[in-house]
Amino acid sequence: MRKKIVAGNWKMNMDYNEGLSLFSEVINMVKDEVTGSQQAVVCSPFIHLHSLTHLAKGYAKVAVGAQNAHQAESGAYTGEISARMINSVGAEYVILGHSERRQYFGEDNALLAKKTDTALANGLKPIFCIGETLDERNAEKHFDVIKSQLAEGVFHLDEAHFSKLVIAYEPVWAIGTGVTASSAQAQEIHAFIRQEIAAKYGQPVADGITILYGGSCNPKNAPELFAQPDIDGGLIGGASLKSRDFVDIVKVFN
Ligand code: PGA
Repeated sequence: MRKKIVAGNWKMNMDYNEGLSLFSEVINMVKDEVTGSQQAVVCSPFIHLHSLTHLAKGYAKVAVGAQNAHQAESGAYTGEISARMINSVGAEYVILGHSERRQYFGEDNALLAKKTDTALANGLKPIFCIGETLDERNAEKHFDVIKSQLAEGVFHLDEAHFSKLVIAYEPVWAIGTGVTASSAQAQEIHAFIRQEIAAKYGQPVADGITILYGGSCNPKNAPELFAQPDIDGGLIGGASLKSRDFVDIVKVFN
C-alpha cells in the first residue's frame, strides 16, 4: 500500500502567531478525528518551522515541511535558506518546483534537479511539483510537459533517492482558480506519471511512489479525486488555511 498524504501549502500567509494557532487546531483535530494511516503535512513559511516541529513532536500523523530550499549547501547567498537548516529544525519535507516558484522566481528543471539533490543529501523528502499551464493543455502538450519535467527534474536520481520523493501533479490552470481538474483528467495524468516512473525505475518503484493532486482541492471535491486509483492524496493551498477544511480533506482517507 502506498502512503497517503495530504499536504497543506500555506504559501506566504499567516504571521507567526496566526500560524501557531492554525497548526495547534490542526494537530488537535487530527488527534481526535483521524483514524487511518494517512499523514498530514503542513508546509509553512520558514519562520514557523521550528515551532511547528516542536508542537508535532512524537506525533507521526502530522509532519512539517518547507516550501523551498536553496540548491547550494551553504555560503554567500544573502536571504536564502539551506536544506540543512530546514532539516536541523526537524522538518521532514520540502516542496520543490511549485509552479509559483517556476513562474515568479524563474526556477527551471535544471535548477530544480540541483535543489532536489541538495534536499535529499540533507535528509529532506522533496514534494516535487509538476504540471502544465492552460496554454500547454489547450495545445495538447500536457503529456510532453509532464514528461520533460520528470526527465529533467528528477530522473537523474538513482532508485534509492528517487524512492524518497513525493510527486505532486498540479495543473497550473487549477491553482487558486477554483477550477479543479476533473477526477478523470487528474487520474489520466497520474497514471501517465506512474507509467513514466515504471519505464525508468521499474513497476515496483512506480507502485510505491505517492502522487498527490493539487489545484483548488477542497472538502467537497477531494473524495472523488482521492478515490482514483493513482491519486494518493493532495497538495492543498487555500483550503489548508482553514483548520476545519484541511482536516476534513485529511479525513477522506479515514
Ligand atoms: P490551491 O493551491 O489549493 O489554492 O489551488 C494549491 C497549490 O498551489 O499547491
